[in-house]
Amino acid sequence: MSRLDAFIRRMKAQRDCLNAVGRLVGDRPGAVLEVGLGNGRTYDHLRSLFPAREIFVFDREVAAHPDCIPPAAMVRLGDFRETLPKFATEAKRAILIHADIGSGNKEASLALGRDLAPTLAALLLPGGYLAADQPMEVPALERLPLPDGAGDGRYHFYRARG
Ligand SMILES: C[S@@+](CC[C@H](N)C(=O)[O-])C[C@H]1O[C@@H](n2cnc3c(N)ncnc32)[C@H](O)[C@@H]1O
Repeated sequence: MSRLDAFIRRMKAQRDCLNAVGRLVGDRPGAVLEVGLGNGRTYDHLRSLFPAREIFVFDREVAAHPDCIPPAAMVRLGDFRETLPKFATEAKRAILIHADIGSGNKEASLALGRDLAPTLAALLLPGGYLAADQPMEVPALERLPLPDGAGDGRYHFYRARG
């Protein structure tokens, strides 16, 4: 598979996961967390899926496309390892977390996923969903099959136990 093919498949898996989780969340209450704003592509998709919800956004910087810049009050700037635990003290809980945190360094991305998984699990409401570009294997999260069409192993999909 060419790198272009792999890129297209990953983007499709990401979009299919987000669309599927949008249907699963339905009208259940809770915030949405976008962990990894980047260019703002998935943030833009999330706000189209969840126009009436609070969407909190995490990154070390805001470097998104000008059309995809979240309101300042919804942005938590800094290292995820600091901003996510701090957010837990705001007493907001999420019905959906999308974690798109990977870089070109596979080992560093996996390690970041391992570090963040317990914190992300604790931020979810019982039955809340986590869609992630890295594996997040912790007991508090039940791995779910990827939605139809999302392809195997390119994205990771969980539900909070409880
Ligand atoms: C793959 S990009 C996100 C792409 C984005 N979801 C989109 O659709 O455009 C990952 C983002 O995570 C951020 N990031 C990676 N590690 C981080 C860390 N430890 N703390 C804060 N931000 C981090 C990077 O700055 C980058 O913007």
